[in-house]
Amino acid sequence: AVRAFATSTIQQKEIKNVTVIGAGLMGAGIAQVAAQAQLKVTLVDTTEKALENGQNIIGTSIKRVAKKLNPDDQAKQQEYIDNALNNISTTVDSKAAAKDADLIVEAIVENIKVKQQLFKDLDAAAPEHTIFASNTSSLSVTEIASATSEARQKQFAGLHFFNPVPAMKLVEIVRTDKLQEQVFEDLAQMSKKIGKSPVSCKDTPGFIVNRLLVPYMLEAFRILDRGEASPQDVDTAMKLGAGMPMGPIELADFVGLDTMKFIADGWRETGGIEPSLVTPVKVLDELVAEGRLGRKSGKGFYDYP
Ligand code: CAA
Ligand code: NAD
Repeated sequence: AVRAFATSTIQQKEIKNVTVIGAGLMGAGIAQVAAQAQLKVTLVDTTEKALENGQNIIGTSIKRVAKKLNPDDQAKQQEYIDNALNNISTTVDSKAAAKDADLIVEAIVENIKVKQQLFKDLDAAAPEHTIFASNTSSLSVTEIASATSEARQKQFAGLHFFNPVPAMKLVEIVRTDKLQEQVFEDLAQMSKKIGKSPVSCKDTPGFIVNRLLVPYMLEAFRILDRGEASPQDVDTAMKLGAGMPMGPIELADFVGLDTMKFIADGWRETGGIEPSLVTPVKVLDELVAEGRLGRKSGKGFYDYP
């Protein structure tokens, strides 16, 4: 009742319909966990081929989840899969997909201009109540949100998931100075509903996890640049010596080397982080130039036959 009198506050609805834009590694995972939690999901990308790629990622992963939930019952596994997949529809029309969305989560390429253009278009197409969220790894959420109206900026947050989304329990909810508390609460509640543990963080480069993880991975690449150890030895060292589930080199292949480079180059240009942490890395630049983008392209530091 109190909120009804706060004239600038748009009444929030429970998040039921989620539109995920970008059907790559992250968008596919986000769509999957939302669908598994019985939210209605529309998955969007620019081409049918990209949507197919996303559906393949979901298809492989959801089989693992279903098997884990019902280890000895194939019929139940199939029922779980069908039920979740029924909650997902796909389209290449992002504006149409915005029309019924309570929440839009963007997981497209890590480029500020491209993200801003997308959100500008979505702002015009989406209903007033729709919450906007970006899964950006490294960009300023405030700056991305500035492409939208003042009203929307109050409903615009970072919602940062981790790869592989179905397995990683964390989501960072990034607050800008304009974000309304109620919207933060709605996102926290939705995150829990889809099986994640939210943490709150400020809109700083890399938020919490990537502020720590990315400089560590870049320094691992520099060990290779300096010829001090092989990729295999770096990975073995960090797994057996520091208890990491993956070494930093195999993790970079897993994240995507293009994404790693977008993050490092972006921070070097925009500042806000100690410059020595993001000095250029030869091996990363070379691999990306050769199209070796990591696991998703079949080759990176390692080969994935
Ligand atoms: N889909 C569904 N479930 C999956 C999965 C997938 N793609 N990948 C792993 N899992 C599940 C498995 O079913 C298994 O579940 P249970 O333990 O409940 O049985 C669990 O995850 C562990 O998997 P595995 O036993 O098969 O393999 P593993 O022990 O080698 O773990 C891993 C795989 C979870 C990926 C692990 O290697 C790991 O945690 N790696 C590090 C990942 C990481 O650091 N991610 C963050 C990257 S940075 C980022 O994302 C932010 C950014 O902005 C760049
Ligand atoms: P990806 O390359 O696997 O997928 C990106 C998808 O976005 C592609 O399918 C591409 O076709 C699509 N796309 C590009 N421009 C588009 C547009 N204008 N409209 C609709 N779709 C468009 O990338 P990813 O690894 O899924 O990363 C996506 C975002 O998530 C990036 O911002 C990245 O920084 C962030 N992120 C990545 C990771 C990771 O480990 N890879 C982890 C957390 C966050």
